[in-house]
Order: sequence, then C-alpha cells, then structure tokens
Amino acid sequence: MDMHSARQRVKQLRAEINRHRYQYHVLDRQEISDAALDSLKHELQQLEERYPELITPDSPTQRVGGKPLDDFKKVHHEHPMLSLNDVFAAGEVIAWETRISKLLPDARQLDYFAELKMDGLALSLVYRGGVLYRAATRGDGRIGEDVTQNVRTIEAVPLQLQLDGLSPTLRKQALDEVEIRGEVYMTKRTFDALNREQEKRGEELFANPRNIAAGSIRQLDPTITASRRLSFMAYDLPTDLGQQTHADTHALLVQLGFRAGDHNQVCKTLDEVETYHTMIGKKRSGFNYWSDGIVVTVNDIATFKKLGVVGKAPRGSIAYKYPAEQATTVVEDIQVQVGRTGVLTPVAHLRPVQVAGTTVSRATLHNIDEINRLDVRIGDTVVIQKAGDIIPDVVQVLANMRAGSEKKFVMPNKCPVCGSSVARREGEVAYYCTNSSCYALQHEQLRHFVSKKAFDIDGLGPKILEQLSAADLVKLPVDLFDLTEADLEPLERFAEQSAHNLVDAIHKAKKVSLARFIYALGIRHVGEETARSLAETFHTIDRVMVASLEDFQRIPDVGGVVGESLYSYFQNKKNMQLIAGLQKRGVIIERAVAQKSVGALQGKKLVITGTLASLSREEAAERIRQAGGKVQSAVSAKTDYLVVGENPGSKREQAMKHRVPILSEMDFLNLLKKA
Ligand code: IVH
Repeated sequence: MDMHSARQRVKQLRAEINRHRYQYHVLDRQEISDAALDSLKHELQQLEERYPELITPDSPTQRVGGKPLDDFKKVHHEHPMLSLNDVFAAGEVIAWETRISKLLPDARQLDYFAELKMDGLALSLVYRGGVLYRAATRGDGRIGEDVTQNVRTIEAVPLQLQLDGLSPTLRKQALDEVEIRGEVYMTKRTFDALNREQEKRGEELFANPRNIAAGSIRQLDPTITASRRLSFMAYDLPTDLGQQTHADTHALLVQLGFRAGDHNQVCKTLDEVETYHTMIGKKRSGFNYWSDGIVVTVNDIATFKKLGVVGKAPRGSIAYKYPAEQATTVVEDIQVQVGRTGVLTPVAHLRPVQVAGTTVSRATLHNIDEINRLDVRIGDTVVIQKAGDIIPDVVQVLANMRAGSEKKFVMPNKCPVCGSSVARREGEVAYYCTNSSCYALQHEQLRHFVSKKAFDIDGLGPKILEQLSAADLVKLPVDLFDLTEADLEPLERFAEQSAHNLVDAIHKAKKVSLARFIYALGIRHVGEETARSLAETFHTIDRVMVASLEDFQRIPDVGGVVGESLYSYFQNKKNMQLIAGLQKRGVIIERAVAQKSVGALQGKKLVITGTLASLSREEAAERIRQAGGKVQSAVSAKTDYLVVGENPGSKREQAMKHRVPILSEMDFLNLLKKA
C-alpha cells in the first residue's frame, strides 16, 4: 500500500474504531464482536508501524503509551472542583428548596434535573483543538494531580471530541478549549472479573470498586491502569457552549462523545424528584455500576449560578443519597451455630448497628478459612455490609483500631450443643458435629422438613416447633405424624381449636410429591432442583433407595460430591428407618409422572446472552429445544440458566440478581452432551 492509500485507510480505520467506541461506551450497544474490533485496531497498528509519520496522539492505538512516572505533576483547576452537600430524607430536600427559593427574587416553581450519583472519583478533562490535552484529579478542589497518561487508557474517555453535530460557531469555540467533568468508576462486571483473576493468581482480593478505581487512576505506571478497565460517566461541562439548562449540558456531553447518565430526568416538582429517587432506589442493584444516590440540580443554569457557592458546595445542587449499606461496629463475640447438616458456622455477635434501615447484631463469618482470611478477632472493629436481603457479611477488619486485647477465635473441638466431637471432612472447609442425633442438627432438620418447599405444614413455624421440642413431643420428623390434639391442648397458647387445626394440617400434608419428599429429607447438597431431577429420573422412592452411586452420578446436574452424598444417605440404616416410619404413618409419596422426552434440558428455561464462539444464537436455541428446554428472551426468577457468551449485556446482572445459575459456553455444551 502506498503512502496515499495508507493515509486514507488509517483515516477510515480510526473513524470506524471511534464509532464503535462510542456505540459501546456511550450507547451500550455492540455492533461487532471484540475480536472484529481488535482486528481493526491491529490493522491500524500495523499501518502506523509502517508509516510512523501517520501517527497522531489521538489515534486509538496511542492510549497506552507513556513510561511510568516518578511523580504526578500538580494541576491548577481554572474553575474549582466543588463537592456536594448530602441529604438522606425527603424532608431535607424540601428544606433545601425552601432555602434556595428565599434567595431568589422571583420565586417561581423551579425545574430540577435529576441524575445518578456515581460512586467513583471525580475527574476534570481538558480538550484543546478537540484533542484530550489534560486529565486531572480533584485534589483539594483547586489543585489536583495530572493523570493524563492513565486516563488515556480509559476507552470511555474519547481522545478526540466528536464535533460533527455542532454549529460552526460552537465548533470553533469547542476547538479552542473545552473542560468536561465526570466520574471514573469500575463496573460490577469488571470488578468481579478482576477479583476472579486475583483469586486465580492467589493474590489478595479487592475490597471495593471505588478504592480500586481511585488506586488505578493514581498509578505511576499506565499499563496497570489499562489493565483495570475503568469506565467514565460525564456530568458537567464548565465551558460555555451555549447551554441554558443542565439538561442541555447533558445533551451536549453525549453529542461530544461521552456517556452522560442513563437515567436522567427533568423533574417539575419535588414530588417528581421523590418518585425518581424511589424508582432508582429499587433499580440500582440491577445496574452494572454502583450508584450511592441521586444528584438533584436546579435545571436553569443562570439560576444555578445566581445561587452561588457556600463552603465548597454549590447551593443549586444536592446529593440525595441512599442509606449506606455498610457500617462499622465491634465484634463482641464469635459463636458457633449448628446447622441442619451438622455444619458448624461461626457467627459474629455485633454491637447493634443500623445498616440500610435495619438493626444488625449478627453477621455470618461463613467458616474458619474466612475468619483467617479477614483475620477477625473478638473485640475488633469491623466493616459490615448488607446487600439486599442477604444476611450481613463482615467485609473488612479495621486493624489499626486494635487495642491489643482482641482475642483470636478458635474453632471448638466439641459441638457447642451436644458436646460430641467435631471433625472436618477431607477437602472441605466446614467443620461438622459428628453426632447424627445432635439436638441442634435434629431441630434444624425438623425445621427444614416442615418448610414451604418441603412438607409445607401450615401453622408449624419455628416458635411452635421449638415448643414441641421443648415438651419432648417431637424429635424426629416421624414424631409429627403421631401428634394428637390431646398432646397439644395442655401446651401454653394452644386452645382446642388451634390444636385441632395443627393436627389437621399435618394430616393434610401427608400426601406429598416425590420431589418435595426427597428435598424434605435434607440430604447434604440436595436442593430443590436436584430433588426434582431425581424424581424425574427414578419416579418412585423405592427406586431412589436402591440406586447405585453410578446411577446417581449419571443424572445431569449431579456431580461427584452430590452423587456420593446421595448414595451414602440411602446406605444409612437410620435414614431408611425414617422413610419406612413416615410411610407407616400414612405419608403417601406420589409417583413422579414420566416426562414425554428425557432431554438434558427437559422443562428448563434458558436465556442466551452475548456471542457464542462455536455456534450461532439460532443454533444454540435449536439445541436447547432439541434437549427439551425452552428459550426465553428475558431473565426472570423463573429462568433456570443463563448462557453467557462474549460481551454479555445487562442480562448477566439480572441473572445474578435473581440467583439464576450462569453457564459459560463450555458448561452449556457439557450439559447438552449429557442428553
Ligand atoms: S455534580 C458541584 N453529578 O460526587 C460538584 N457529581 O460529593 C459537581 N458525583 O465530587 C458534582 N456523580 O465526584 C455530580 N452525577 C453527578 C455525580 C457527581 C458522582 C461525585 C463527584 C463529586 C461528588 C460530590
């Protein structure tokens, strides 16, 4: 290729690569695969190597270039970088409106612009001649640090502004100098992937995405920043390009080539602001980034400016935040709980603290490995976290706050409930109580047996069950079916009617499906799904009871560990006696009806996202249908699997939210093979 055609080709390649950058990072769309885009970049790189005179600093190949620095240069911000005042309640928003209205001579109804508050760190970007000239951190608001080299590696930051859509006058202005502000952040997906990589390498996991985002921007070596795959969301344009409102600002930011908020809304009243705040509050856990609140700004820029600044914050904006889902507290004790399968779980007993609107006094520590990893000691000050309705977790120890009197936790060698010895099975992190008639274990098993997804016995909640155990009426599930009204009536709070109702409910529950029955047994590693697969495979409990280890392991979804657990359960005489005892007392286990076809995905609902390497979407869908499954377009709580290819969209988030198992292409193909 001669110089002239190379120049042409380079120009086309850059335009196309930039267009895809915009599609991907601003519009969240993907027209071509990563591999295809890489191939375009590769061709550009080769041409630039051959004709170095064609290289320009804004070429997409020039993102990672500079050498590691010794230190960051200081940068003076022409317009100070302010911060926002936080509010947490609707009343405080109203008080804010009242306050600012008083400062405005013509007090008419104000319009507001509501947008997401991104949980990252603020950046100022200066473009000269339409090309990224300097990127700086906030610092103290007046003086920040020059992090241009690092910011160049962020693909969501255009190296060159998109000026095509502007009028000739604005374009001329924009070519002079433009400053853009926004937030650097890390997506949840990237954070998870990065932590998986850390884990594989046996390195320490990152605790929180904001800290890594901040740490990555302040790296002296830009290749490290590049490897952290950061994102950027723009929210302000201090340069005057004719914008009258904050909504205009956002429209301009998008036009210039930035992502500028996905959920922005102009609100005419504070009621609308409140509705927006509630709506985002519900949706935000499904976003692919962390947002800790909304920012509400007086939409009219002239009014916003008139309101001025107080302290370091503009009067015309507030951050309306969501209650923190993390809090710090003290570990007062670590105690061990015995679960249904005999597992000993260490639980932190905490000085009660408010997190996301509820009081938390316990947090699970999972197992001894987790305690060692965090190095939690009794007396430590810790950070706890609550995500949705999940049990709170201890995420971090503030070791600097130790007084020296903290005590290390040691796993007891005797069960705290029955005093039997405790053991660890090979290859497992958990400790177990070795006594199969341990009170705690039996009680937890009973709770499981009567629970919703098992026998579903109405009116037999944890309190009543506790009462029945305390009165020595019920120890094992079989005992439930021996209960009479006469047994119950003498008990406290048991009137004649309630005794009758409970006995009646137990009687009604005697007819049970095979899947529920298997689930109710509480076999280790056997959840609802596996119980269903077993029922579909064996149809009757008699066949399940005589199945060999190989029979179990042949069932899709049943791996080595689950198969062994099943086999050993049905080898145990006591368990056989339990099943016989239940049947003797009139429990009827309904035969599972045979399915017409026995594909590996029989009756399963699957969703596909992203690009698969070995087959097209349509081919994959066809294979699912052949295996007896259904293909859905959207993920819901009812979806059985999400198949994830390259560049999955928001469906992956949805799947995580609904706890839908995620299959890689390899997992998916293996599952099909089991047909
Ligand atoms: S406007 C006047 N909009 O929150 C200050 N800030 O506490 C301009 N932030 O330092 C901020 N998302 O880093 C604004 N949509 C958003 C934001 C946002 C995150 C950060 C920003 C700022 C801090 C203020």
